[in-house]
Amino acid sequence: FQKTMMKRGAFIVLEGLDRSGKTTQAKKLADWLKSRGETVHLMRFPDRDEPFGKVIDAYLKKEIELASPQALHLAFSLNRWQKAGEIRSLISLGTYIVCDRYCYSGVAYSIASGLDEKWVKCADIGLPQPDIVLRFDVDTDVAAQRGGFGDERLECNELQKKVLIEMKKLTDERWKIVNANDSMEGVHNQRRKQEEMGKMEGEYSYDIEKMS
Ligand code: TYD
Repeated sequence: FQKTMMKRGAFIVLEGLDRSGKTTQAKKLADWLKSRGETVHLMRFPDRDEPFGKVIDAYLKKEIELASPQALHLAFSLNRWQKAGEIRSLISLGTYIVCDRYCYSGVAYSIASGLDEKWVKCADIGLPQPDIVLRFDVDTDVAAQRGGFGDERLECNELQKKVLIEMKKLTDERWKIVNANDSMEGVHNQRRKQEEMGKMEGEYSYDIEKMS
């Protein structure tokens, strides 16, 4: 009997407010998975190199205007749809994708900006589903004090508070909550402890067919 079936990878999404430390934690998580011998691919949304991502980048840096918040919302969603096939194939090839933000940011930021909840959710229906979502919770006041806050659009404190409320509403049993007010190492160790307790393991065995 030859073992020809390839082990499926996993799709791990990190969500949280601006300056919650997700990006650093995504790298730490990727390094840790690599040290365990896994093939890892780091991804982030918005992917500012992809054509729609270039529009988003220019908008966030206040270089261009967009005609409506709906147009911005759809650009964020298109940016993910452009990567949907790559996500599916990487996972089926056994790769672990560690993804900094995904459709939950898309939904939470757009609802917090005043768009209709039902409408915003439609654009992302059918995207590959993550196996696990790690939500990095940071107090908006702590986040505001961290470097660089306020340079781009969407980074004001009022909006961040609303985003956190919306993000909490999206949370289900696939999500794990991490207290991100701690230092970077402290946060990483918290998250690692959750994995070592085996909380994540079982969830990696999801079938690729069940993903969308
Ligand atoms: P990001 O590049 O992750 O910024 P940072 O590194 O500062 O966290 O995201 C840029 C902004 O875009 C951020 O304020 C969150 C927002 N956003 C949306 O509004 N919708 C989306 O779909 C995504 C992915 C991000």
